[in-house]
Amino acid sequence: MIISGIEVSSKIKEELIIEIQNLKKRSIYPCLSTILVGDDPASAIYIRNKHRACSEVGIETNDNKLESSIKEKNLIELIKTLNEDKKVHGILMQLPLPDHINQFNVINTIEPQKDIDGLTYYNAGLLLNRKPSFIPCTPLGVMELLKYYNVELKGKDAIIINRSILVGKPLALLLLDKDATVTICHSNTKNLEEKIRNSDIVVTAIGNRKLFTLTADLVSDNAIVIDIGISRANGKVIGDADYENVSKKVSGITPVPGGVGPMTIAMLLKNTVLAANRVII
Ligand SMILES: NC(=O)c1ccc[n+]([C@@H]2O[C@H](COP(=O)([O-])OP(=O)(O)OC[C@H]3O[C@@H](n4cnc5c(N)ncnc54)[C@H](OP(=O)(O)O)[C@@H]3O)[C@@H](O)[C@H]2O)c1
Repeated sequence: MIISGIEVSSKIKEELIIEIQNLKKRSIYPCLSTILVGDDPASAIYIRNKHRACSEVGIETNDNKLESSIKEKNLIELIKTLNEDKKVHGILMQLPLPDHINQFNVINTIEPQKDIDGLTYYNAGLLLNRKPSFIPCTPLGVMELLKYYNVELKGKDAIIINRSILVGKPLALLLLDKDATVTICHSNTKNLEEKIRNSDIVVTAIGNRKLFTLTADLVSDNAIVIDIGISRANGKVIGDADYENVSKKVSGITPVPGGVGPMTIAMLLKNTVLAANRVII
């Protein structure tokens, strides 16, 4: 089974288009404000793709491009202005930030009701308490994929190879809430290969094939593989898994590209519409 993020995200976008048209009839014009600091080419591409996806479904955007030398206090001032701006429903701070800026301070300046990436400690805390408001887009997209393809989670052993706040930690909570037994792994995990072989659901998000490649000998026949990692080889975007061989063995796998990537963007759109829906007029 190919777990296609393109198929599922297209359906979600179709539903959002209708929801956005209805919001506009109520004079609510969903708007996402993005902030990009510096000139990292990958970040610029991500922002461009997010803007394009917004325009496809009818979400307005405004773009704030800042020099990498910007002072933390000026970035925080900008976020405070966007927090106050009633036309803006969602604020997206493109990461990573330059080293001289404290990411925690910046992210947590975002008003939780506009934190469509779900990264503030307020929204992370709600998720921890099983009262989620905005859930980070990549883990949310993974859960939507698993739901759409009827992947049974109850009682299953899931392994997540990633412990970031953006991916591994929130996904672990979401899988746990669906009664999976979750193991979170990282660069210091012992016996990683054995743990992977014993897992029903394998989520990998490393993004460096020199450090780690998910090969066919590592996965069991009935495994479901969710490949979040992104890296490049010979000018092509690839995931963590040796897709050609792993896909022949397992019972389901997400391709890269076309798996988790489009779902992350669809969830960004969904969270922005959710934020706009919560506006009281
Ligand atoms: N498709 C999408 O929409 C999407 C969205 C978000 C991220 N991504 C991709 O997912 C990847 C991870 O993103 P991130 O922001 O979470 O990056 P990150 O913070 O750098 O996380 C990488 C994780 O991999 C672990 N790791 C590194 N080498 C390892 C090894 N040899 N064995 C086991 N674990 C190892 C790291 O462990 P330590 O914690 O010990 O360092 C860390 O937890 C990147 O490729 C990114 O581009 C894709």
